[in-house]
Amino acid sequence: MSNSVTLEKLTALCKRRGFIYQTADIYGGLNGVYDTGPLGTLLKRNIRKAWIKSIEATGYDILFIEGALLGPEAVWDASGHTAEFQDPMIDCTSCKHRYREDDIDSSKPCPHCGNTAWTDVRQFNLMFKTQVGAAADASSIAYLRPETAQSIFVNFKNVMSSNRVKIPFGIAQIGKAFRNEITPKQFLFRMREFEQMEMEWFCKEKNAAEYFKKWCDIRREFYNTIGINPENLRLRVHEADELSHYSSATSDVEYHFPFGWKELEGVANRGNFDLSQHIKHSGKDLSVYDDDTKSSYVPHVIETSVGTDRLFLTILFDSYHEEEVEGDTRVALKLSPQLAPYIAAFMPLSKKLSEPVLKLYQDLKKKGYAVQFDESGSIGKRYRRQDEIGTPLCFTYDFDSEQDSSVTVRNRDTMAQERISIDKVEQYIIDTLG
Ligand code: GAP
Repeated sequence: MSNSVTLEKLTALCKRRGFIYQTADIYGGLNGVYDTGPLGTLLKRNIRKAWIKSIEATGYDILFIEGALLGPEAVWDASGHTAEFQDPMIDCTSCKHRYREDDIDSSKPCPHCGNTAWTDVRQFNLMFKTQVGAAADASSIAYLRPETAQSIFVNFKNVMSSNRVKIPFGIAQIGKAFRNEITPKQFLFRMREFEQMEMEWFCKEKNAAEYFKKWCDIRREFYNTIGINPENLRLRVHEADELSHYSSATSDVEYHFPFGWKELEGVANRGNFDLSQHIKHSGKDLSVYDDDTKSSYVPHVIETSVGTDRLFLTILFDSYHEEEVEGDTRVALKLSPQLAPYIAAFMPLSKKLSEPVLKLYQDLKKKGYAVQFDESGSIGKRYRRQDEIGTPLCFTYDFDSEQDSSVTVRNRDTMAQERISIDKVEQYIIDTLG
């Protein structure tokens, strides 16, 4: 991350280049809810791919599911969310501004209007409640899931019995979660609708501490492989008084955002809290038979949980670079090639030269390469545009190309240019970007 990056600059870049839009902005938007534009969709897809790859590269037995977004109240009673998933809320009675009580010092004046006239602190449950079907009775109450994890726990037995897996094994999931945050803020950092990438690792109690450490290492390594600057990352162990109601040990992977060190991912030893609660509330047997001890037990769980959108924001912050070039400010997203929305752009120097370079671009696109054809504006402007969206390589076809069957390739990070033969373009991409 370069020192010059701010949340405002990133938000503007995201809108300008089509990464992220405020939801329904033509109607004034919806606070804490965003739509993903074409470039953001490509970047998110690559983030998910990298996460799945890192899970699969462990060589462990890990199965993927896609749980429903809606769940009956009983699930959230069992998980503790109806009783405990709440934040303290306080209002200024003068300007009506609302705050999370732990975000401000209520012995001091309101940061918005300067008056000191506070309401009492109330607990606010963060789940979105709704009603399923036409009958508005207690049995119709449902909630949008506040975490994807519970879909995994309620399906634990289904997955185990239909897939013949044995403890230890994992269930992973990428999907939406919803939290009615009192004060959504910092763009994609705290949203009301967001995506999580979670993995629950089921194991015997005696192995849980060792797996907890292993998963902390695996997750820490993931950030190296996607090119996050290690100086901006740290693993922080939770103090006993910080632990969630379900956790006996938690470590956060934290990132150094411009607004401070903040949680990016949580790794938690959830014990057998969730499965035990679901056994108690559903009356179903979710225990596992141990052939060694000839007895049944409830598996313990190590969880890894990261928000796709929070990681998206992290990647943008980390890759953002600004530098002075010939009196102008150049902005480049120095994204790892595995994450970049496009790995290469193909440009004719003049529109008269479009045909051969269009063919080159289309051939590579048909082979599955994420490439872009860019023919509008001066070549300098096109380079700047590709730098800003993180395209590692630009290939330019010029008037000499017709004679020497070569193109100029420009590197996003160094801006160095070299001439290569057109029939070597594909190999050049493979050799340079891997
Ligand atoms: N299942 C455990 C769980 O949900 P969490 O710490 O509440 O734990 C896990 O959330 C991750 O989900 C966080 O580390 C963060 O990356 C992401 N996340 C949580 N709340 C979020 C929000 N309001 N907006 C964006 N991402 C969020």
